[in-house]
Amino acid sequence: MRKPLIAANWKMYKTTRETEEYIKKFLNLVKDIKDRDIVLCVPFTSLYIAEKLLNGSNVKLGAQNMYVEEKGAYTGEISPSMLKDVGCSYVILGHSERRKYFYEKDEFVNKKMLVALKFGLTPIVCIGETLQEREDGKTFDVLEYQVKNSLKNLSKEDADKIVIAYEPVWAIGTGKNATPQQAQQAQNFIREKYAELYGKDVSSKVRILYGGSIKPENFKEIMAQQDVDGGLVGGASLDVESFYKIVIYDK
Ligand code: 13P
Repeated sequence: MRKPLIAANWKMYKTTRETEEYIKKFLNLVKDIKDRDIVLCVPFTSLYIAEKLLNGSNVKLGAQNMYVEEKGAYTGEISPSMLKDVGCSYVILGHSERRKYFYEKDEFVNKKMLVALKFGLTPIVCIGETLQEREDGKTFDVLEYQVKNSLKNLSKEDADKIVIAYEPVWAIGTGKNATPQQAQQAQNFIREKYAELYGKDVSSKVRILYGGSIKPENFKEIMAQQDVDGGLVGGASLDVESFYKIVIYDK
């Protein structure tokens, strides 16, 4: 049985004060939930205050990106040890917005993933096809390429320590979520590719999240799919009540 994981990706939203207000309310709502993992991936500037509030709670802290070196002359970058220092357990890597606006490629995402594992961070590696690729019938080719290249050199022992997020680019921030069947089909394909690389017992343990226009109204049906183990939630995670409803999708 894979434990559901519901992660908020706040993207470039919320000041430290807004972070504080949100987390105080949120913890009050979710404090007794133990049967699923809950993660808040907040902006770098909010990590410190978030950690002070989340420490010892059932909600884990995540970052949205990191660089591959531990320290050095890399102006503007944040290292894996800095993320550990501030209390992060998770880090989102290779989000499609980073691929699109900051030209990140699978090879770089791969490097980051291996470094994150080395530092004891759980990487949430994002993959997914664009609308053009889907319309051209290339969805599965793209997913296969991304699985193979972003996960290169991942050892079998580490293969079930990462989290994969299937985020079809056309569903992100558009209000147009993938149908539960589309999510299942893609995520089952990803799990099969995983099984080819690492064997069935590893592939049956790795958690694959869906991301793209998740809302309280659509998440239950998406979660009912066999290969969907959780969600990576953008816009709808910015409001405490709405994210709480997503977290308790089946209650
Ligand atoms: P939305 O939920 O706003 O579509 O964003 C999804 C996403 O990019 C999560 O990483």
